[in-house]
Amino acid sequence: MILSAIDVNNLKQAPAVSGVLPIFHQRWSPRSFASREVNPADLRRVFEAARWAASSYNEQPWRFLAGVRNSITYNKIFQSLVGFNREWAGSAPVLILGAASTKFVHNGTANAYALYDLGAAASYLTLQAAALGLATHQMAGFDHDAARQAFEIPEDYALGSVIALGYQGEPAALGHEQMIAMEVAPRDRKPLSETVLSAWGEPAHLG
Ligand SMILES: Cc1cc2nc3c(=O)[nH]c(=O)nc-3n(C[C@H](O)[C@H](O)[C@H](O)COP(=O)(O)O)c2cc1C
Repeated sequence: MILSAIDVNNLKQAPAVSGVLPIFHQRWSPRSFASREVNPADLRRVFEAARWAASSYNEQPWRFLAGVRNSITYNKIFQSLVGFNREWAGSAPVLILGAASTKFVHNGTANAYALYDLGAAASYLTLQAAALGLATHQMAGFDHDAARQAFEIPEDYALGSVIALGYQGEPAALGHEQMIAMEVAPRDRKPLSETVLSAWGEPAHLG
């Protein structure tokens, strides 16, 4: 039996840790999206959250191309996706492509932190979306050259991810077995002992 959207959403919640904001544990990346549209006010809210991310020199190098279903923007982003992502991402009502200016406006020098800052803004976006009951799924699997060409994105902008946004759908709607298995698999993370260190290779002692 395939789990329902509600069951799988429960399964995907990371275990609560006292004092950590619940939204960090609640966000996860489905591939099945419901047909329900995202209202424009909520769409604005997710970008408003992204807007307030910190960035090197407060450059705010991020630019988001945002398309709702059936728009030219949406179709261009969708067309750039690799085959695997095309199999599911078309169910999302909104597709977003992130890009970042790799040159500082104030002096024209290289901004090595452009993609880092775009990632931070994208993170805020995904968490605000989760707080609004929306789901997001980021994708590196798209043809950068095709997307750049389709939108005439200048060379000094680096491309980040495509983000599918909408409401979580039923796992069964994904149609094929392997995709459903991924949708209902529990989430997994490395232990902090592997990622938080006091010296290289040595876990930090955390409370
Ligand atoms: C930068 C980035 C690129 C990703 N690319 C893809 C992708 O092309 N296709 C896909 O199905 N998932 C993609 N993912 C989703 C990750 O596999 C997913 O976030 C990860 O397994 C953790 O799962 P969670 O987001 O549900 O916690 C990507 C995620 C990120 C952040």
